[in-house]
Amino acid sequence: MRITDIILKKRNGLKLSKEEIDFAVLGFATGKIPDYQFAALLMSIYFKGLDRDETVELTKAMVNSGDVIDLSAIKGVKVDKHSTGGVGDKTTLILGPLVAAAGIKVPKLSGRGLGHTGGTIDKLEAISGFSVDMSQEQFFKNVNEIGLAIGGQTKELVPADKKIYALRDVTCTVDNISLIAGSVMSKKIASGADKIVLDVKVGDGAFMSTTEDAFQLGKVMVDIGEGVGRETVAVITDMNQPLGHAVGNAIEVVEAIATLKGNGPKDLHDLCMELGSQMLLVSGLYSAKSEAQACLEKLIKSGAAFAKFRAFIQAQGGNVEQVDDIFKLPQPEFSSEVVSPAEGYVHKIGARNIGLASVVLGAGRETKESKIDLSAGIYLNKKVGDSVKKGESLARVFTNNKEKTGPAKEMILTSYVILPGKPLLNPLVYGTVSAKGINKEVLLKC
Ligand code: URA
Repeated sequence: MRITDIILKKRNGLKLSKEEIDFAVLGFATGKIPDYQFAALLMSIYFKGLDRDETVELTKAMVNSGDVIDLSAIKGVKVDKHSTGGVGDKTTLILGPLVAAAGIKVPKLSGRGLGHTGGTIDKLEAISGFSVDMSQEQFFKNVNEIGLAIGGQTKELVPADKKIYALRDVTCTVDNISLIAGSVMSKKIASGADKIVLDVKVGDGAFMSTTEDAFQLGKVMVDIGEGVGRETVAVITDMNQPLGHAVGNAIEVVEAIATLKGNGPKDLHDLCMELGSQMLLVSGLYSAKSEAQACLEKLIKSGAAFAKFRAFIQAQGGNVEQVDDIFKLPQPEFSSEVVSPAEGYVHKIGARNIGLASVVLGAGRETKESKIDLSAGIYLNKKVGDSVKKGESLARVFTNNKEKTGPAKEMILTSYVILPGKPLLNPLVYGTVSAKGINKEVLLKC
């Protein structure tokens, strides 16, 4: 078999066989196929697409490129949750402890920030001492005893994804349904959970820009999950503005703690209720969504959800004094207000641009080698639908690098669209996709 024949076949719009997909994926993962040829294949896939069978074979080939974790040492139903990536998305910090407090096992492997989107591990590392480095035995022990552990992706888990993703990132081939589905589902399958809840983001700050594409991506991922015997539900959610008010690392930990204590922003709380109840439903603990949500609300009110977060942080070496007193978290040297140039209502906040502005402030990496400023970030004082007066604060920026405040504030200003008259609000949740089909009745307003 020759890689040039495979590239040509896909370039001409023909269907690839399982053998051809295996050859290309495993060849690239093991360094036998060079970047330039795999990049050509990725671009051919981008334009000509992969059908359902090819997407399933791509996912399986990626899973087979490395280890598959056996979670049988963890008792009970194991539920995983994955977001396709957004801005201000700190749901894992809330859902992990919340769902674990309900008695569900959450063994989770998370990632770091990517481009304009933040990463769960970077956020948690704002708590000093917190580490995802632990042996598999320790990971299992924490999940068995606390209900939750968060680890990092290892070199052995889906090595093909690491290489392919890095190449997609620099060849403009990230936003393709089959490639995203293969990337996400290969990691979910290899990390071993029985049940999977996917948060498929749609909008300006997401990889999918239309709800039609997001539902299609959800359907493809659900089909792949169900095809390998993992019950999978995809929730299609809005990413046309950042989630909550906080964007950064320590600043997002603060907002997550507030939400675990029942004092979080409404959109973040409501989304966690939706995703959390889906996690309880797939686990079989409840059969009615209203009961699952009532359970989650009770766990927040009683303090059990926050207590679980505290226990999880402590078990992974984090300093709980910073959880109990958020002013002990990394504090920035500089902060500055972004003031509104006009009076009216906020119609839009470009999420992607806000994410990029947080990277400029130091909250994300500009290059692979960049060191994150854990205290850097943005607090959005105004969200879509809010009224604003000229000169009033739209947002506040935080950083240790004063020079970055000017450029970041400019980016934030251009992200806000302020017009007279109230805007129509996007739904927070557009619907769900499961083995039962597409359900658009769950539409949740902000
Ligand atoms: N998240 C992933 O893990 N992979 C993608 O391709 C996109 C989002």
